[in-house]
Order: sequence, then C-alpha cells, then structure tokens
Amino acid sequence: MLILGFESSCDETGVALVDASGSAVPRLLGHALHSQIEMHQAYGGVVPELASRDHIRRALPLTDAVLAQAGLPLSAVDAIAYTRGPGLAGALLVGSGVACAMAMALGKPVVPVHHLEGHLLSPFLSADPPEFPFVALLVSGGHTQLMRVDGVGRYELLGETIDDAAGEAFDKSAKLLGLGYPGGPALAKRAEQGSATAYKFPRPLLHSGDLDFSFAGLKTAVLTQVKRLAHARPEGPATPQLAEALDAAQIADVAASVQAAIVEVLVKKSLAAIETTGLKRLVVAGGVGANALLREQLNAACARKGVRVHYPELHLCTDNGAMIALAAGLRFQAGLLPAAGTAPVYHFDVRPRWPLSELG
Ligand code: KG4
Ligand code: ZN
Repeated sequence: MLILGFESSCDETGVALVDASGSAVPRLLGHALHSQIEMHQAYGGVVPELASRDHIRRALPLTDAVLAQAGLPLSAVDAIAYTRGPGLAGALLVGSGVACAMAMALGKPVVPVHHLEGHLLSPFLSADPPEFPFVALLVSGGHTQLMRVDGVGRYELLGETIDDAAGEAFDKSAKLLGLGYPGGPALAKRAEQGSATAYKFPRPLLHSGDLDFSFAGLKTAVLTQVKRLAHARPEGPATPQLAEALDAAQIADVAASVQAAIVEVLVKKSLAAIETTGLKRLVVAGGVGANALLREQLNAACARKGVRVHYPELHLCTDNGAMIALAAGLRFQAGLLPAAGTAPVYHFDVRPRWPLSELG
C-alpha cells in the first residue's frame, strides 16, 4: 500500500511517499519539503494569500522529486492523502485540490488527514517508534495540547491552552525582541548566550491542578521587561524600535528567561499528565518539540520517573508531508479507511478549524 501525502496547512509545502504494506510500521520511501519562511520573512509573519499561491507552485515539482527518490512512477501510488485541517483555508484548499485531482485521474482513493494526528503519530517514523498507549504533548505554532493516545484514532484530550499556543509564545516574544519570524528557533539560539534566571517571568497555571496551559500573559510580561530595559514609557505601544534599544546581552537574557518559563510549564504539565494517566510513555510532537532545552529537561525529568520519551526525527518535528502520508498509512493498517472497492469520494473539502477530539 503506497500512500502519497500532501501537507499545505501553513507555510511549508510537504510531499512524501510512505509504504504501509502489511502490519510493519510504515516506511518512508521519499520526502520533499519547501519552506516559505524566506518569502514571509519580509512581512514578519505568514501572509495567507502568498502561502496559497506558493503551495500551487511547489506541489507538482515536489511530487516529481519524491517519486524520483523512491524510483517509482505516479501510477504505483495506491492512495493520496492530504491535510484537511486545521490550518489556513486557502492553503489547505491547494493541497486538497491537488490530492483530489491526482487521485481522481489515477482512479485511486483520497484520504483526508488531521494535521495534528500527523504530528502526534510522526515519531512512528523514527528509529525508536513508540508503542500505544502514551501521553502526547503536542506543541506547535497553533496548538498546545496534552492527549491520551490509546491507538490510532483513539485520542482523549487531557488539557490544552486556554489562549496562546507555546509556539505562539516563542514567536511573539521573539518578535518583541526583534528576532523576526519564525521566532522559536531564533529565540532558542539567542537564549544559548543568556541567563535563564536573569528575569523572573510568570509560569501561568503551573499550579492550577489541571492540565491546561496559558501563555498570553507571558507576552505582556516580556513586553513590560523590554520596555523597562529600553527606558520606554510603560503605557507606550509595542514598536520594533523598542528592541533596538537593547544590547545583545539583554536580548539573550530575556530570550533565555522566557524560554525557561515556557519549557518549565511544558515539562511540569507533561509529568502531571503522566501521573494522572499512570502511563509510562510520552510522545512529544510539533514544531516546539525541536527545542533543545525542552528535550533536555523532559529527558531528565522522565528518566527520574522511569518514563520513556519519544520524539520525531528532528527534521520531521515541523510541518512535513511524511507525517500526513504516515497518518493515512497507520489509519489504513488500523482498518479505519473505507474498505477496498468502496467508490472513492473526491470531496475537495477542508476544515480550517477542526478539534482533534472530533476525529474518530
Ligand atoms: O508544527 P509547526 O511546524 O507548525 C504548526 O503546525 O504550527 O510548529 C511551528 C512552531 C513555530 O511557532 C516555531 O517558532 C516553533 O514551532 N519552533 C520552535 C523551534 N522550532 C520551531 N520553538 C522553539 N524552539 C525551536 N527550536
Ligand atoms: Zn504543524
């Protein structure tokens, strides 16, 4: 069962080919990615219309590259998967349009995939794949969730952010520090030179007793600190000029302190989820899962508790087509796709807002 997968929910076009034959963990046969970061950088964030147009330009050349890597013709593909949501509507429509058109031309089924399911199953493509059941910490630019995962399609939401996502907290703090977009990796890099204890930023909901998160207050605290360091009026606006008044050491200290606050909350809540569920495995997925400090602290905390931690390969932490093809492959193996011989439906539909808990 060869599955071609398309990811186009935001600012990366990802295409990949996965072999989900038999019952072995699906294998990645080819994988190509185009990141739009450079294109959006000039605007300080993702411009949805530009993102959609670029997905159109990239989808077919990336498909050719993936098939060339695998040494297979398009006609060998048995099903085509695409990200149905959540994400930017226009960007999602490109992936679904390409996938449906291609599948229809081939007379093969099309498989709509939930983007977050792709993220949380992505460690199955690593050298050390997890076993069910596990707790999943999903930390991306748009989502921060703790899930109990009992199998493919069996997801129970344990807690989530009530406002900003962890990636958003990284991105917004980075923007206040003049570090551009995307902020997470840039902020983590600057933090290496700074002191994590230079400033005491809030750890929201750390002791709330539940598994929810809140990161919106952190942005305000960072802004207040940046204004103080820039000798700006506390009630003044957040402008790009504020960060220009800071020296490199101050930027590094704020970066390190805010990263420490985000990571501490993520680690403590993940361990609380492990305790609540009694499970002994943790899977970390989504772009923020690439953060080195988060990995270091989770590894240390989990080792103390005898908990195994699994991550996707570093290059599969952020958005990619492999996780979409993989999720479709695992759904196929779990018997969750329509039976062979069922007339394919080329729906062409997307769900920009789509809670993972609504997925069966
Ligand atoms: O999963 P992802 O690629 O896209 C979404 O589905 O949102 O996650 C992107 C997020 C961004 O907020 C980015 O700043 C963050 O992941 N990110 C990081 C790192 N690499 C990516 N945050 C902290 N440290 C990193 N090394
Ligand atoms: Zn993502």
